Amino acid sequence: VVGVLIELDTGHHRTGVRTVRAAARLASTARRLANVRLAGVYTHEGHVYKASPERIPEVCAEAADALRTAAAECETEFVSVGSTPGAVSMAGEHAVSELRPGNYVYLDATQVSLGAAAERCALTVLTTVISRPTAVDAFLDVGTKGLSGDRTPDGRCGFILGHPEAVVDWCNEEHAHLRLDATDLAPVVGDRLRVVPAHACACVNCHDRAWLLRGDEIIETWPVSARGRMT
Ligand SMILES: Cc1ncc(COP(=O)(O)O)c(C=O)c1O
Repeated sequence: VVGVLIELDTGHHRTGVRTVRAAARLASTARRLANVRLAGVYTHEGHVYKASPERIPEVCAEAADALRTAAAECETEFVSVGSTPGAVSMAGEHAVSELRPGNYVYLDATQVSLGAAAERCALTVLTTVISRPTAVDAFLDVGTKGLSGDRTPDGRCGFILGHPEAVVDWCNEEHAHLRLDATDLAPVVGDRLRVVPAHACACVNCHDRAWLLRGDEIIETWPVSARGRMT
């Protein structure tokens, strides 16, 4: 017997049934199938990424309400939600049985720009300064092949760990431009800097391995098992 969850679209407008009625219809179909057990309802409240930080609790409350109604109509109790910016608000919503934040384990420059994380993100890409053409420009030996092509909502590729005002504002495949006009950071060619990427999930998948650090010491190396997999 396979347990299934019904996905309700609570506003992200990606996958999932769009109405509680459609969810209820699907639930009654699922109940008629041999070897299928209706286990609950779920959503990815990804539209929180487009909400201002002040509106996130309201967006989450609306999504949780919709899921609660869907669960009742589907005669099930398990309610699963998932997003990093919404995780704190959703944790306070009664009737939510499960949180599925993913980005949460590392955090990134997008979460910082949404106000969902402080500047201390766990995932960084170690880079070397390869050019200092002017006092306010530097180039790093990483680009979209190492950071991914994703940008923060305000259009950045990342920032330097410990120096959030040192912004990677654009990248080519193998070069990243570091803007230094708003920071005291004055690196020289050869210096190593740790870039917090715009999107940790996509960034990890650009690499074969992740190195786990305690301080500056490498304590473990993890293979990126989904690397290169398309499904
Ligand atoms: C279905 C689903 N659940 C949970 C998540 C986790 O959300 P986040 O990346 O905000 O942690 C995602 C992210 O894409 C998702 O697609």
